[in-house]
Amino acid sequence: MSDSAAKPWAGRFVEPTDAFVEAFAASVSFDRRLYRQDIAGSIAHARMLARQGILGKDECDAIVAGLERIRARIEAGSFRWSEALEDVHMNIETALIRDIGDAGKRLHTGRSRNDQVATDIRLWLRAEIDAVLAGIDALVAALLDLAEREAATILPGFTHLQVAQPITFGHHMMAWVEMLERDAGRFHDCRRRANVMPLGAAALAGTSYSIDRHQTATELGFDRPAENSLDAVSDRDFAIEFTAAAAIAMMHLSRFSEELILWSSSQFGFVELSDAYCTGSSIMPQKKNPDVPELVRGKSGRIFGHLMALLTLMKGQPLAYNKDNQEDKEPLFDTADSLRGALKVFAGMMRHVDCNRERMRAAASQGFATATDLADYLVHLGIPFRDAHEVVGKAVAYGLREGRDLAELSLEELRRFSPRIGDDVYEVLTLEGAVNARAHLGGTAPAQVRAAIARKRAARRAPPAASG
Ligand code: ARG
Repeated sequence: MSDSAAKPWAGRFVEPTDAFVEAFAASVSFDRRLYRQDIAGSIAHARMLARQGILGKDECDAIVAGLERIRARIEAGSFRWSEALEDVHMNIETALIRDIGDAGKRLHTGRSRNDQVATDIRLWLRAEIDAVLAGIDALVAALLDLAEREAATILPGFTHLQVAQPITFGHHMMAWVEMLERDAGRFHDCRRRANVMPLGAAALAGTSYSIDRHQTATELGFDRPAENSLDAVSDRDFAIEFTAAAAIAMMHLSRFSEELILWSSSQFGFVELSDAYCTGSSIMPQKKNPDVPELVRGKSGRIFGHLMALLTLMKGQPLAYNKDNQEDKEPLFDTADSLRGALKVFAGMMRHVDCNRERMRAAASQGFATATDLADYLVHLGIPFRDAHEVVGKAVAYGLREGRDLAELSLEELRRFSPRIGDDVYEVLTLEGAVNARAHLGGTAPAQVRAAIARKRAARRAPPAASG
């Protein structure tokens, strides 16, 4: 029998499917990626049917062995996928029937492709979330090591991309650690809602067989069966949630990339990316381009697009399953692939970043980065902050005219702006003085950076807290 004639739903049809419609409607070119989850779901379903007395034990054994042979053929590359059989589910089921005969025809008892596909995607996404979490973890580990190495390295902190105040490189890296940890929290949270089993919802209304959904849920590692059959087959909010969490994580990686691109330019010269993470130009021999962060910044765009695609896919659908949902897979697959790739490349790149401490220091010494510290010094002498701000503003204007930073002005010059300034002022005008003074929780002082790193490391060693 040809594949077209073998379509499992062909019974009520008189005419064959239009050839172009067959190609247009098929999803097997991309959903074959779910073959492992599809086979695992089928095996769990068959075993449950057998335990409930709905399938014979021999039939169940034949189904399980047949599905395992199919899995081996797929993995060996010898399975023939057929577009006429539409999707991964019908390809595998048809191959099973061809292989083991009548027992194979009983597998679909009490089940529909609607609960089957919803189950497959959730199983697949659960594993992807675990891989994303491992990717975030590896990047955080790389950043903790880098932050420790550069805990006391001084660079200018920026607001409006203008030099603002001196900070430490370690503190800057730890800011990204905070953001990545929140990203991980979003994926953990998403996993809890994704790990609920649709199987048993059948097409939409449940099934009249006496199935045991707790058995299948346990066998497949789901936390519980879904409570409502209509909801179970129709919503893809878990996919949207994953993509939203991915979009936020990529937004973070994109911002981080932007900093690395700026910092590795000759104008900044703060960091040097390893040759292994850059490429050259085919025409300009001097060039070393930061392709990796540029690509990560660029890939954020497609993930934002996938989020919009999935939201739009879902917004007009009445309950329950609609074929629209077949369009959920490509955005979801690409989101997971792009994010996992970005995390992996970023962790490797950050393990090989060289810091140009002299350049960072020189940049922090310019731009009057310790002006706030001079104002704070005056406040300690009893001058109100607003007056101190004014005094320092005038000193900065003078320094700008003279082409010298505050620390380069003589005591006599500084005293023209406030006669109460003493020669201890130079302690606060130094970069070390400025960063060491910010020694509270969350501040940039090297001691605080080291304490923050120690807290993160201790938390990573502790068993994960039960998520609430
Ligand atoms: N390929 C389909 C999908 O991805 C499987 C479910 C099809 N169900 C149906 N009733 N046509 O959504």
